[in-house]
Amino acid sequence: MDISEVKRIAVIGAGTMGSRISLACALHGYDVIVHDISDDALRGLEFRLQFFGYNWVQAGLTEQEAVEKSLSRIRTASDPADAAADADILIEAVSEKLDVKHKVFRQFDKLCPQRTIFVSNTSSLLTSEMETSLKRKDRFAALHFHRYKTVVDIMRGTKTSDDSVELLKQFSRSMDELPIVMKKEHPGFLHNWMFISWLEAGIWLAAGGYGAIEDIDRSWMKVHNMPYGPFGALDFVGLDVASDIGTGLEGKGHPGHWREIREFLKPYIEKGYLGVKTGRGFYTYPEPAYAQPGFLEEE
Ligand SMILES: NC(=O)c1ccc[n+]([C@@H]2O[C@H](COP(=O)([O-])OP(=O)(O)OC[C@H]3O[C@@H](n4cnc5c(N)ncnc54)[C@H](O)[C@@H]3O)[C@@H](O)[C@H]2O)c1
Repeated sequence: MDISEVKRIAVIGAGTMGSRISLACALHGYDVIVHDISDDALRGLEFRLQFFGYNWVQAGLTEQEAVEKSLSRIRTASDPADAAADADILIEAVSEKLDVKHKVFRQFDKLCPQRTIFVSNTSSLLTSEMETSLKRKDRFAALHFHRYKTVVDIMRGTKTSDDSVELLKQFSRSMDELPIVMKKEHPGFLHNWMFISWLEAGIWLAAGGYGAIEDIDRSWMKVHNMPYGPFGALDFVGLDVASDIGTGLEGKGHPGHWREIREFLKPYIEKGYLGVKTGRGFYTYPEPAYAQPGFLEEE
């Protein structure tokens, strides 16, 4: 398949990243169909698309008019067969759990046309452990999008064809994102391996009682001139997703203190304080303290 033949993208999972990816695809002219097992998630899609749209307009990445226009290219489907029909690329963005990914791949491998290329937006799982549930191993890779339109990580499976990788590079470029192809399989790609270590270091300092959450963020924000610190970033990732990512990296060589980290996140997760997506995590949204004037000057 040539990139000019790619018209329809099926996005499975309407959460944080499914929304972000859908918007990017629609902004660049693709027809997008979004499926989720949760009707609540499908109902909340519009809000999340507007949220990402607003942020990208503020960051100068697009214009409000383009965001509004792109929304008409996105539709939802609670029926998986409807989502699968005529998909050129299927982007899996469901929960970061291997068994859930396998279930989705098995289900859609049967429903999608032969030509459909499958990709996973996983943050920490390996292509070799995900591909086992797929027949189309030559048309499968990890294609990992980030919060902002910047870089897309590409990781082959054991049988991914060169044609598939080339198409995914072109697909990434068609959305003004830089494709970075891994030289070999690695959990967390390049960026996430470093990013997760940063999040984990922030939690480690708070869990050990060395500093307040706000001071840990303040310290990072001030020194690096960044709009958020590790806890602001965790709120965006989602505390449940971050905990699952840690579990995914555990035992794959990542030096993080994941057991202690999960213990620290657990009470927040149990209360439903999952971050931006639930309106409360370490901070409250839509106006978190770290984005308020004077935050960097307080003690
Ligand atoms: N949150 C981030 O910053 C971030 C960044 C890059 C990559 N990722 C990765 O993207 C993926 C999704 O993360 P997220 O933050 O969007 O999670 P999320 O919890 O916001 O959304 C996951 C969605 O998957 C749906 N889902 C679960 N099982 C399903 C199934 N069987 N069929 C259809 N839908 C199903 C859930 O209902 C939910 O709406 C994960 O693999 C995560 O590691 C996350």
